[in-house]
Amino acid sequence: MTKRSVCLLAMLVIIANAINAQAQKDKVVIVRTTMSPRIEYGAKQLSDVLQVAGYGAPAQKHNATKNGPVHRIVAGVITEDTIKAFGKQFQIDFTAIGKEGFVIKREGNITLIAGGDASGVLYGCLELAEQVRQLKALPADIHISDKPQMVLRGTCIGIQKPYYLPGRTVYEYPYTPETFPWLYDKQLWLQYLDTLAANRYNSLYLWNGHPFASLVRLKDYPYAVEVDDATFKKNEEMYRFLTTEADKRGIWVIQMFYNIIVSKPFAEKHGIKTQDRERPIMPLIADYTRKSIAAFVEKYPNVGLLVCLGEAMEGVGRDDIEWFTKTIIPGVRDGLQALGRKDEPPIVLRAHDTDAPAVMKEALPLYKNLYTEAKYNGEALTTYTPRGPWAELHRTLSRIGTVQIENVHILANLEPFRYGSANFIQKSVQAMHAVYEANGLHLYPQASYWDWPYAADSAQPKLLQVERDWLWYREWARYAWNSNRDRTQEINYWAGLLAGRYGCSINDGKKILEAYEESGEIAPKLLRRFGITDGNRQTLTLGMTMPQLVNPNRFGLFTLLYNSEGPEGEMLSEYAAKEWQRQPHTGETPVQVMAEVKVHGQKALDAISAVEQHITRNKEDFLQLKNDMLCYQALANHYAWKAQAALDALRYKYSNQLTDLEKVVAPLEQSVQWYRKLTDYTKGTYRYANSMQTQQRKIPFRGVNATYKNWWEILPEFEKELSQLKKRIDSLGAAKANTTTAVNAALKPATVTRTSNTYSSPYQLMKGARPFADSTYVITNMAPELQGLSGITTRWNAQAQRGSHIIFYTARPAKLLVGFFQTKAPGFLPAPELETNATANDYGQADVKIANALILEGLPPVNIHTYSFKAGTHSLSLAKGACLLLGFIDDKEPLRVYDAALQAADGKKEVDWIFE
Ligand code: SER
Repeated sequence: MTKRSVCLLAMLVIIANAINAQAQKDKVVIVRTTMSPRIEYGAKQLSDVLQVAGYGAPAQKHNATKNGPVHRIVAGVITEDTIKAFGKQFQIDFTAIGKEGFVIKREGNITLIAGGDASGVLYGCLELAEQVRQLKALPADIHISDKPQMVLRGTCIGIQKPYYLPGRTVYEYPYTPETFPWLYDKQLWLQYLDTLAANRYNSLYLWNGHPFASLVRLKDYPYAVEVDDATFKKNEEMYRFLTTEADKRGIWVIQMFYNIIVSKPFAEKHGIKTQDRERPIMPLIADYTRKSIAAFVEKYPNVGLLVCLGEAMEGVGRDDIEWFTKTIIPGVRDGLQALGRKDEPPIVLRAHDTDAPAVMKEALPLYKNLYTEAKYNGEALTTYTPRGPWAELHRTLSRIGTVQIENVHILANLEPFRYGSANFIQKSVQAMHAVYEANGLHLYPQASYWDWPYAADSAQPKLLQVERDWLWYREWARYAWNSNRDRTQEINYWAGLLAGRYGCSINDGKKILEAYEESGEIAPKLLRRFGITDGNRQTLTLGMTMPQLVNPNRFGLFTLLYNSEGPEGEMLSEYAAKEWQRQPHTGETPVQVMAEVKVHGQKALDAISAVEQHITRNKEDFLQLKNDMLCYQALANHYAWKAQAALDALRYKYSNQLTDLEKVVAPLEQSVQWYRKLTDYTKGTYRYANSMQTQQRKIPFRGVNATYKNWWEILPEFEKELSQLKKRIDSLGAAKANTTTAVNAALKPATVTRTSNTYSSPYQLMKGARPFADSTYVITNMAPELQGLSGITTRWNAQAQRGSHIIFYTARPAKLLVGFFQTKAPGFLPAPELETNATANDYGQADVKIANALILEGLPPVNIHTYSFKAGTHSLSLAKGACLLLGFIDDKEPLRVYDAALQAADGKKEVDWIFE
């Protein structure tokens, strides 16, 4: 049969279906053979659609076997006798149905919906409802079966804020109506849960640092509760409502928490910090946590737990294993015992800032029903060809034999513009299966995670994320259910939906999809080729500075981004070096991405502009979408030109020819012009670019107290870079400045008294000095301004086993210089990393201050970070691993950030200072 005749036949069947069904309207009864809230919910959805289609049939119970003039829709689970009997009569093989699966078959005046379980019946009802919606009638002929590929398909809501609450730190947000009015808004929950059910999501994660003190009261620690009585009651009521309504829709609520955080009143009562990464496990905190978990399990037995061992607890060593096996699991068991339950409800272990395979190895013998979860592309969306060590970790977790869930986390590179590339998302889910061998999805909001439920758009009233980003939720859900769908049919499917939403033709719908898909390549490609980090420390859509592009190492380059979260390729610096040495390039190059993103931006804009005149519905929404395409085009061009400027600057680094530096001006001017356009498009249309507005955000600029969150705040900084470049060219031309002299004046040691004598002997920083008392490592080279500082001698072995601890008194604010070896090898103290430790900047220590500042023969080069302290007595504990304590300077002493480039024997020059 030709393709044409197949199409014709299909059309005839549809028409016949519609005509046939039309004749039977007003005579439909929905029979539920199983009593289950889930099936009731499904039947209600089906009944509503039937009513709209003109059947006027409310869902009602009915004798399933009795024949009569009505058309009966019989819905039930395959384990029931009635359904089994129908199965036999209709000759259906139920063995392949599986969990959440269903079969729908019509014979005569009966349509059977048989589900593998109650969720399967619910999804069968929703499927039939969808067919009725499209046909505007019951199908006259139907025999389909379906079941999901991924066993867990969930979304996530952060019960968190863009800012810290007064007197509190990261992740600490008690559940109160003042902070989270939306948490108590039942209508909003129902709208959201209905959307999840319609998309066949089956799990919902609530994300919070320490939820227990808002939800349970402990006999032994009654003072730990951190909300007032009325709020406590509201929380109980809200939780009951949410879990009941979610369950009706086949959705399992999972509460996430970070370890180890305790409530504020608990901390105050015991004179401890609410969270302290370097603190060893204390019996008091372990007891409090175990009892909190037990009480939670007992009170909310249907709520799951997602455990994040990392962040507030050091991610190396055995502590996390001990904590999981000796506190968390026993806590869950205590709760189950109190309920008299012998089963094991699932616990999800987050592979974040912890050695999850090691934890699983010791936990599985104690508790079988464990799942693992890890970030798909970090806190961003960068690729559907993941590889490298990160892919290895996912496969290792998958191969344990438990289910590995893929967490599409924060999406820091997609904030705040609309994202809806079905192509990218489908391929990503395929990669989750094929590359990561995973079988679950945990999806974050597309943007504005920290600002749920609102989108960043300036529109008033504020837009709801669940409405604005409808396509995001739908696309991931469709592919989590089944990722092996034919691309041509998928284009038609999404085009149909878009045509419906905007009241235009299918061809116009295809154009809108094209706009989404072309623009959908831009942010992933930009981040994976030019970015500093996959974390929400960086907001891609705000742009990057020239120093960040030419010398990303100085800004804490997160290597996974390059070795795992994109196709193999080159960074700008590698590309420039190879060009200079006339070596061949490999993989995806920066120049290729520069050209590609410009084309994607133009195509997206052309596609959306082509349909503008044909839009008849949701016009305002469409115009916002179009504005996003303008933004994406401006963003793509801004980056492409700036990357060109960076390549030219890197060429100057090698050639030392002023004419090369002069070439940087034109592309940098272009990039600023495109940024000006981006600023215009976003002014008045967006409230912010990024929803995390705390000091954790670093790139392009530090986002403390909600600053540098808009493009108009950043434009003047980018203009300054351009004027600085022009000034430097002038002065270099005039004075032929020597760029290899030290950037900082000699640093003066501050007077600080150490009150603990763990490390007694100070040493003078100079070539030949030995910083470790128990090893022979010698300083062979160092940045000149360090000469004469008074370092603190340490013991390599003690640092490796117990970490570094000093207590000291300073009469004036002072800074401690700490040297971190550039390696992730065991035995070395890892540099502070905001990706895995949100407290990594409490002393201003997150950034490298002098890169490649010291060389000890036989060890990796050393970067210097600084820890600032007010006047007074302080105790500082650093985690386990070797590092250098290089001495104190006055906090006011000027210290310019730069790369001393000492690893290179030839005294390699850096060019980032030209723009600063
Ligand atoms: N970086 C934090 C985490 O991964 C917040 O997203 O938990």
